[in-house]
Amino acid sequence: MIKYGEFITPEEYMELRKMVGWVEFPIEQARACIEKAYMIQCVRDDEKAIGVVRLLWDGGYVAFLSDVIVDPKYQGQGIGRKLVEASISKLKDGMKPGYKVKLTLNSAKGKESFYEKFGFRVRPNDDAGPGMDQWLIMDEA
Ligand SMILES: CC(C)(COP(=O)(O)OP(=O)(O)OC[C@H]1O[C@@H](n2cnc3c(N)ncnc32)[C@H](O)[C@@H]1OP(=O)(O)O)[C@@H](O)C(=O)NCCC(=O)NCCS
Repeated sequence: MIKYGEFITPEEYMELRKMVGWVEFPIEQARACIEKAYMIQCVRDDEKAIGVVRLLWDGGYVAFLSDVIVDPKYQGQGIGRKLVEASISKLKDGMKPGYKVKLTLNSAKGKESFYEKFGFRVRPNDDAGPGMDQWLIMDEA
């Protein structure tokens, strides 16, 4: 049975990242990703973690949607949609009258139209340049 909850272990989070071919981190860093998030949702089928999303928010105007992952065996069943909608609604719940928050994300290549369904705009556009990023990587000890 599919259930949504807020608990995920660092190992489960890394396993989900691995499942979709994303960069893995040391467990200590994975734990920080979980503990420091404004919200985490984990989807389980019985006990097994099959999806995750992380929402970061500074409480001010900057919010970031990260790690929208659904186990490939469970994709196409509306789980990704629920994860994104839950994140947006959690953010709205925390906003006070008059607040303006910029919610951004880095779309994986080819997934832009998935996010456009929730109001995200592809960049570059008339107002904004392309998103920019870089990885900072420390050598292992
Ligand atoms: C992208 C991802 C999260 C979608 O999850 P999902 O559970 O399969 O998506 P849903 O079944 O909830 O689909 C929601 C809607 O998005 C559409 N959609 C799903 N995957 C899509 C894709 N890759 N591209 C465009 N649209 C997509 C669906 O058709 C559906 O549309 P509808 O509601 O209008 O019928 C999932 O494919 C995934 O985990 N991929 C690997 C990791 C990844 O790339 N994550 C996003 C990175 S930023």
